[in-house]
Parts: sequence; C-alpha cells; structure tokens
Amino acid sequence: MALTIIEQISESVAFLKKNYPDQPTVGIVLGSGLGNLAKEIEVEKEISYRDIPHFPVSTVEGHHGKLIFGKINGKRVVAMAGRFHYYEGYTAQQVVFPIRVMKFLGISALLISNAAGGMNPAFKIGDLMIIKDHISLFTVNPLLGKNDEELGLRFPDMSEPYKKGLIQKVKKIAARLNIPLREGVYAGVTGPTFETRAEYKLLHIAGADVVGMSTVQEVIAAVHMGLPVFAISVITDLGIRDEENTITHEEVLQAANEAEPKLTAIFKELINEL
Ligand code: HPA
Repeated sequence: MALTIIEQISESVAFLKKNYPDQPTVGIVLGSGLGNLAKEIEVEKEISYRDIPHFPVSTVEGHHGKLIFGKINGKRVVAMAGRFHYYEGYTAQQVVFPIRVMKFLGISALLISNAAGGMNPAFKIGDLMIIKDHISLFTVNPLLGKNDEELGLRFPDMSEPYKKGLIQKVKKIAARLNIPLREGVYAGVTGPTFETRAEYKLLHIAGADVVGMSTVQEVIAAVHMGLPVFAISVITDLGIRDEENTITHEEVLQAANEAEPKLTAIFKELINEL
C-alpha cells in the first residue's frame, strides 16, 4: 500500500537526522537569483534532494537541489538550495513536501524570498516588499485532497499567514540598516507565462501589489502546520507599464541579483534575533 504523507515525511526526517543529528531552528527558502544567503552559512552538511527519500525528483538534467545544514550567526538553519515550482510539473503536494519535512525536523520559523513582478505603480525595480498577505486563488491549493490531522486542520484559518511579530522585527532591522522596504500583497500564480497586460491589471484591481510563481503554496502548508512564516519579495520587473512591456527571465534574474545584498543583510539580522 502507498505510504501516507506522514509516513513519507517520517522516512525523510529519519534519513536526514541520521545524516545530520542536530536540530535546525530556522528554515530558509530562497528565490530565483536570491541564493547568496546560502554562502553565509557555516556549512555543516549538504544533502542532495535526490538522496532524500520521497523528495520530488528533478527532471531537469544537472539541476539537482540540496538541503544545506549549518549555522548563521550561531543559529542552526536548514536552507533549500533550489525550490520546487508548480510550473515545473510537480504537484502542489510535491512542491510543499520539503516544507513539511523542515517542520518535522523541528524548525520554529520559516523565512522565504522570491522574485516578483510589481503592479503597484509606486514600486520600482529592485524594491524589497514585505509580504503582509497573499492571494492564492489563481494557483492550486496544496491542501486539496484528504486532510492529515497530524499535519493540521481540515479548514485552516488564514487570517495571519505572515506573522505580525516577524514583520515588526524586520521593519526595525531595516530601519537600523537604512534599507527602505515596501509592504503589500503577493498574488501567487502558476506561471510559467508572465502575465498579459490584462492579467497584471486584473491582479492589481483584485488587491495584489506583486505577482509571482512560488511562495503561496509553501506558506499555506506552513500555516496548516502552525509554522510561523516571514516572506519578502524582490521586485524584478514592472507589469503595469502601458508602453513597451516585454519581460524576460534574464532581466528578472539580474534585478534579483542586484537587490540580493539588501535581502541577505535583513535575513541575517532576523535569524540573529530568532
Ligand atoms: N510575474 C510572475 N512571476 C514573476 C514575475 C512576474 O512579472 N516576475 C518574477 N516572477
């Protein structure tokens, strides 16, 4: 008989604990072009996704991600170098499997970053935006299907998906470091197409400030398990320009890379305070 999701998580966790017995306290998921925080980790162990039982298997050749275990500012962290996206063909349940495993490894907070397209007309490329809420109705919910009560409730409350306490901490940190921050709503979509002009407009009218192809499923799985989340977007392109409005993956990566040091500085300080 097929293993339940809890049995799969247990086997992954048992394997990881055998290879790295210490308990991480913070889990980190870094977005496209935003991976440099991983370089700040005093690495103690790296474990390739393909070696971990039940982890989704990457279909792209030479594109294997890994979990990095180690310390930042003396705090034990586990970071995903490479995340799973729904547009790659994984199910929504596969996308969130590593989040569930990190929770069962014992993390007490999850930090997430992503690259996102801006719709709020005040936003500029390179801005950082604290995600204070999200719209996940334009992608697939990872909790569809039978609910496992050992993970969480059938109908989870989503009134505070991003922990206010963590947002307050980050605002103080950013003020101290002199890093301007935006705050707003992230709309999660499946991708892989960037949005049409009409779609950017729709999402903005619907109340979103930015749009991206990740994060909301991970956050739903975390909230389901009662795991506190902080997430931040780097604005890598602007979706609402009326004039020339082509968007390329290259420009997204370049803008993410340029803004990345601000993000790494904030995450390092936040980890220090957790
Ligand atoms: N749309 C969707 N996802 C994105 C974008 C965008 O404009 N930019 C970066 N990720």
